[in-house]
Amino acid sequence: MESTIDQRDKKGTCSLRTNLFSVTTPPKTPPLTNQFQQNALWVVMNTNQLSKIMQKTFIILLTLLLSGIGLKSQDRSKTVFTFDPLPYAYDALEKAIDAQTMEIHYSRHHRAYYDNFMKAIAGTDLEYMSLGDIMAHISNYPAAVRNNAGGYFNHSLFWTVMSPDGGQPEGALLQALNESFGSLEAFKKQFEQAAATRFGSGWAWLSMDVGGKLFISSTPNQDNPLMDVVNEKGTPILALDVWEHAYYLRYQNKRASYISAFWDVVNWKEVARRYAEAMKHGQ
Ligand SMILES: [Fe+2]
Repeated sequence: MESTIDQRDKKGTCSLRTNLFSVTTPPKTPPLTNQFQQNALWVVMNTNQLSKIMQKTFIILLTLLLSGIGLKSQDRSKTVFTFDPLPYAYDALEKAIDAQTMEIHYSRHHRAYYDNFMKAIAGTDLEYMSLGDIMAHISNYPAAVRNNAGGYFNHSLFWTVMSPDGGQPEGALLQALNESFGSLEAFKKQFEQAAATRFGSGWAWLSMDVGGKLFISSTPNQDNPLMDVVNEKGTPILALDVWEHAYYLRYQNKRASYISAFWDVVNWKEVARRYAEAMKHGQ
C-alpha cells in the first residue's frame, strides 16, 4: 500500500491517506484545519468500511444458519430397537416348557443377544436401519452383528408365536398349509423333521416366499430366512428354537419330545396374523 503524508497546516499536523481508503477531497470542501476534523473524516471512512464488513459478516452468518437448518432437517432418526416384555408369565407354557427354562431363556439369553446387538451397532449406520434391512444385507456386517441381530429378532418372534391358549390353525392359514403340504398333519411332520435334523444349534421355520407360497426350512446358529446368507429366503411366520438352552432342563437330550410338545403352545392366532400381514405385503 502506498501512503502519502500531506502537510496541511503550519502546526505540522498531517493526515494519513492510503490508496485503500483513497479519498478525493471535493473541490469546494474547505481544507481540514485541525486534528478534530481529520479524525472525524477518518472515523467516517472507517465507519463506512466497518459497515460493509458487518454486512458481509451478517450475510455469511445468515448463510451458515440457513445451511445449519437445512442440515438439521436432513438429520436421520435412530431406529428404536426395544427389548419387549414376555407376553405371558414364565410358567404360562408349562405344558411344553418349564418356567425356569423360560426365565433363563428370556432374561439371560435373549437379553444378552439384545445387549450385544446394541453394542455391535453403536456408532454405525446400522443404528438408523430397520431390522429387516439389516437382515437383508447381513453378509456385509461382522459376525457380531449377524449373531446378535439374529438372536434378538429370532427370540422376539419366538415368544409371540407361543401362547397358553393359541387355538388351532383355521381359515386362510389352514387352507395355505393344506395346499402347501397336503394336510396339517403333513405340515407338522415336515416341520418336526426340519427341527429334529438341524445339527447343533439352530432354528426351524415356517415362512412365506416371494411368490406367497409357504415353505419349511431350518437355519444354523442365529440365522433366519430374512438374511441374505441363507438359501431359502422368505418372511418367517412360525419359529422353533432348537438350541439346547431352549429345552435341556426338562428334556435333556430328547429334542424330539420338546418338538412334539411345542404344538401344545403354538399361538396359531399370531401365526395367522403374521401370515395375513405377509400376504398383504406381497411376501
Ligand atoms: Fe434361544
